[in-house]
Amino acid sequence: MTQSVREVNGSNPTSNPATVSEPISVLFVCLGNICRSPMAEAVFRSLTQAQKNIAVIDSAGTGAYHAGDPPDPRTMNILEDHGIVNYEHVARKVRPSDFTTFHYILAMDEGNLSDLQSTKDRLIRKDPRAMATLMLFGHFGGNPGEEVVDPYYGVKNGFEVAYEQMARFSKGFITQVLNSDKEEAT
Ligand code: 4NP
Repeated sequence: MTQSVREVNGSNPTSNPATVSEPISVLFVCLGNICRSPMAEAVFRSLTQAQKNIAVIDSAGTGAYHAGDPPDPRTMNILEDHGIVNYEHVARKVRPSDFTTFHYILAMDEGNLSDLQSTKDRLIRKDPRAMATLMLFGHFGGNPGEEVVDPYYGVKNGFEVAYEQMARFSKGFITQVLNSDKEEAT
């Protein structure tokens, strides 16, 4: 079977790395890389175990406040509540090579997305390969512009709310990007 080109968000398939026919690499990004993006990474890993067209999955923060730290215990507890018990991560800051390594960099909120866009705009002037597609992860959840609210200082059930979003957005990404060939074939 000839693998078709994936096109996301009206992007140009000749110039955009999101329109690849090779295994896809995905980076999840929030501010601290201890609450939301590691949760997103763990849920996405769990839901894509059977997918053949996934390469690298990782998460990072736009800030370095927690670099070197493990995920917040509340993130680990929610993952465990939902049966994800084997996830390990060490927080790190987003780095320039992420913009060439990953096809998709998925932000948790508009602030993260704006920071990522500024970094990409700066990088791409020096390295035209810094072509990662930047999107809100919530784009794949069916409600345009849906953000994952930072639960770090937030309401008590913030981590449970975030978990539901991670699962819904991950399923949307799998359907809309990873399995888009199968949809086209039917
Ligand atoms: P995250 O949450 O971006 O979802 O990892 C945060 C964790 C820590 C801080 C901010 C957000 N902080 O400022 O320490």
